[in-house]
Amino acid sequence: MLRPDYPLRTDRLLLRPFEPGDLAELYAYQSLPEVARFLYWEPRDLEESRVFLQQKMASSALEKEGDWLVMAVLWRETGALVGEVNLQWRSREHRQGEIGYIFNPAYHGRGFATEAAEEGLRLGFEDLGLHRIVGRLDGRNTASARVLERLGMRREAHLVENEFVKGEWSDEIVYAMLRREWDAR
Ligand SMILES: CC(C)(COP(=O)(O)OP(=O)(O)OC[C@H]1O[C@@H](n2cnc3c(N)ncnc32)[C@H](O)[C@@H]1OP(=O)(O)O)[C@@H](O)C(=O)NCCC(=O)NCCS
Repeated sequence: MLRPDYPLRTDRLLLRPFEPGDLAELYAYQSLPEVARFLYWEPRDLEESRVFLQQKMASSALEKEGDWLVMAVLWRETGALVGEVNLQWRSREHRQGEIGYIFNPAYHGRGFATEAAEEGLRLGFEDLGLHRIVGRLDGRNTASARVLERLGMRREAHLVENEFVKGEWSDEIVYAMLRREWDAR
């Protein structure tokens, strides 16, 4: 069970649950082809973003395995919603989790994804008590791989053409970090 004490703060960012007023800023990045390129979904129109906003708003705590914690990430300096960071509780028995992140390209290249994902790892390891957290990505998503490497995660697997996504076979790369590696980093 994890119900973070919102808002969470890092050096430059504030993390909190999504709110109804976030629709325009969520749609601003969900609608972009370059954002959806290596994700399982296609760019979303405003109505689709509205539906997903509802789901995100309902994902502010981890109550059971399988749940996703979804947090809006705001740049404290401007108040802009720059992206989101997600943490899934994958297994209670094995104390496993998964980290994910999506940022608006207008705010790429500043280290925001790395900074927010680090807070996601902290929540998973220190507050939820996870033993291992993975990051999974399309083999071509080099920007995402760099985020996981900056976080100190280990490249554990390269699965060749294990998924058929958007009409083509694609590779999946798996990064992971153990709690003891988090403590020692
Ligand atoms: C994956 C994604 C979040 C990475 O975004 P990003 O801007 O490259 O990552 P960060 O916010 O951590 O920024 C890191 C970059 O900023 C630079 N940077 C600038 N200031 C920095 C700082 N203070 N701290 C860290 N990095 C900094 C880094 O050098 C790095 O650039 P580089 O990778 O060219 O070396 C982004 O590409 C994205 O949203 N993609 C679409 C959704 C997606 O694919 N999500 C992942 C699914 S697996």
